[in-house]
Amino acid sequence: MAGRGRIEGGAAAAGRAGGPLRVAVLGAGTVGREVVGALIEGWSPEGSGRPLALAGVAVRDLAKAEAAGIPAGLLTDAPAHLLAEGADIVVELMGGEEPARTLIAAALGAGIPVVTANKYVVARHGAELEAIARRTQAPFRFEAAVMGGTPILRLLADDLAGTRVTAVRGIVNGTTNHILTEMATGGLTYEAALAGAQAAGYAEADPTGDVEGGDAADKLVILARLAFGTWLDRSAVTVARPGGRPGITGVSADDLAAAAARGSAIRLLASATRDAVTASMDASVLPTEVPRDSPLGGTNGVRNRIEIESDRLGWIGVEGPGAGGAATAAAVLADRAAIAAGGGSTWGVLPPATAAAGRPVEAGAR
Ligand SMILES: NC(=O)c1ccc[n+]([C@@H]2O[C@H](COP(=O)([O-])OP(=O)(O)OC[C@H]3O[C@@H](n4cnc5c(N)ncnc54)[C@H](OP(=O)(O)O)[C@@H]3O)[C@@H](O)[C@H]2O)c1
Repeated sequence: MAGRGRIEGGAAAAGRAGGPLRVAVLGAGTVGREVVGALIEGWSPEGSGRPLALAGVAVRDLAKAEAAGIPAGLLTDAPAHLLAEGADIVVELMGGEEPARTLIAAALGAGIPVVTANKYVVARHGAELEAIARRTQAPFRFEAAVMGGTPILRLLADDLAGTRVTAVRGIVNGTTNHILTEMATGGLTYEAALAGAQAAGYAEADPTGDVEGGDAADKLVILARLAFGTWLDRSAVTVARPGGRPGITGVSADDLAAAAARGSAIRLLASATRDAVTASMDASVLPTEVPRDSPLGGTNGVRNRIEIESDRLGWIGVEGPGAGGAATAAAVLADRAAIAAGGGSTWGVLPPATAAAGRPVEAGAR
């Protein structure tokens, strides 16, 4: 194998009938090391089909991964070569656009099932990847990309398949919800609350993707695919009001105090609706006042909550942790188990996505 690191055992067992399913894990960071640890311990749900074996784990820094407890014999810094050696399932947990997109597309193109938590790639390349997966009939599962381990995508795709979903809304970014909660309860400025979130490990050193609404917009595109059957153009999601600042970056302590005086809380609300008559879609991620005693108003800190409106059920809600290594690994492991048991893609029984990119949302339309 090219690249550094040594994968012991070779690829001889890959795909062998009755042999273990060989899982290649790309990335062993916050989420990946939880998944790798579970697989090393032999984690497998009862009745999930063939046993599993780790084909290898790709990282950039081999020494760091080894120090974190991953056996050197499993490690490589050459993810493409790990795939070329042969795997029965690919679990992509590197994040970012490239090389993740290319590796996922290559695996699906070769008919190999893929599990990913990569909202960035799925939100921008979901249509292309779905087309490849449908052509080769390789399952493509990405439950962990939205709300971490709290199940929401399979609920939309499977359990709500008998309804017509008209709206999806919710708090899908724990970092910004934590900041807004701290500002409201502690009377903090945005800058002070952000610094506190960074110190507590809830916000990254570069918080742009969270605080400007980009992360939530990625998740909304994925939710809309399962709710409405269309891959929205990611750039069509509104993240700022006209003349306003994106995401929560323009929310002040005064805004929160004024909202509180009206009995409201401010939440960064991701919202997508489909017009019942024209079927046009509207998607935005904007700071929005909600009644403080409503379920959304009562969702504090890093927790997430998504509400779905459909013709037969009205509104239903799902709440839970939206991030964290252990929580997110739960969704990855469940997806991997579903594949081992012969399950299909995250879109389940839903028909292929339509090609339409959705109507670009006019800024300030809501
Ligand atoms: N963290 C969460 O709570 C959470 C929740 C939901 C979804 N997700 C998603 O899960 C994915 C992983 O997130 P994470 O927080 O676990 O990320 P992370 O902690 O930054 O870990 C990324 C891992 O991928 C490896 N990697 C990155 N680029 C690579 C490359 N070109 N070649 C080989 N290895 C590479 C890194 O190796 P080195 O460390 O050696 O650089 C590291 O092991 C992302 O798509 C993220 O959006 C995360």
